[in-house]
Amino acid sequence: MTDLLRIEDATKRFGDFVAINGVSLALPAGRLTAIIGPNGAGKTTLINLATGAFVPDRGEMYFKGDEITHLPVHQRVRKGLSRSFQVMNIFAHLSVLQNILVPVLAMRGRAGFPFHEMTRETEAVTEARRILREIRLPDAENLPAGTLSHGDQRLLELGIAIAPAPELCFLDEPSSGLTPVERTMVMELIRRLSTERRTTFVIVEHDMDVVFALADWIVVMNRGQVLIEGPPAEIRENHAVREVYLGEEELLA
Ligand SMILES: Nc1ncnc2c1ncn2[C@@H]1O[C@H](COP(=O)(O)OP(=O)(O)OP(=O)(O)O)[C@@H](O)[C@H]1O
Ligand SMILES: [Mg+2]
Repeated sequence: MTDLLRIEDATKRFGDFVAINGVSLALPAGRLTAIIGPNGAGKTTLINLATGAFVPDRGEMYFKGDEITHLPVHQRVRKGLSRSFQVMNIFAHLSVLQNILVPVLAMRGRAGFPFHEMTRETEAVTEARRILREIRLPDAENLPAGTLSHGDQRLLELGIAIAPAPELCFLDEPSSGLTPVERTMVMELIRRLSTERRTTFVIVEHDMDVVFALADWIVVMNRGQVLIEGPPAEIRENHAVREVYLGEEELLA
């Protein structure tokens, strides 16, 4: 498999605290990777480094062979690298359709386009409606995004993340706050989108049932480092992983 993203020996400090400590990781196209690890392990910080929100203190990053270590977020998005956020990141007062139109128009070089004129961009609107169908929210297009249920807001976030048609898309806890049934639904949707859109997803997820059912590959982080990575069956058997999750062993049973 070709590596979409390669992270080489990345370190990120906040003052004296080393949040990411010499992480090297290759993310090949087509492989659904789950990043797991306890709170504070550095999962979100790693996404911030990969997507350009933070610059590493040391190390390099390559996207499809091109060095992107110092490339700003919007240029990485243009290259095919996008993300969703752990904390809800929608425009609550804009309509559902407008929330999707913002990234669709940005990809067409129309960032900063006046919101009230958005719906005149017919091609972009068609594209945004197609995305709403993909994320199962076609009937909600005119509702203010803030009025959606928590589960539907999570779906909308997924739609915003895939709107730039990324080749590689990081999803930071896409199912947090959802019921078990909703979680399964969102994860199946992610799996389907990865096939239909040929998008490679990397998810951060705490629900081990979801991780082991969905992921092709699991990266376990602890204290800013990659403890181990491998296919689910191998990770499940690993003693070091069980130690990190001490007290949560039933999750891995
Ligand atoms: N901007 C920041 N400034 C200072 N410290 C930070 C910053 N961002 C993250 N950290 C610290 O870095 C460590 C890793 O945080 P990070 O958010 O990456 O963890 P995480 O694995 O995503 O955890 P969680 O599962 O709780 O989301 C934590 O100790 C956190 O407090
Ligand atoms: Mg996090």
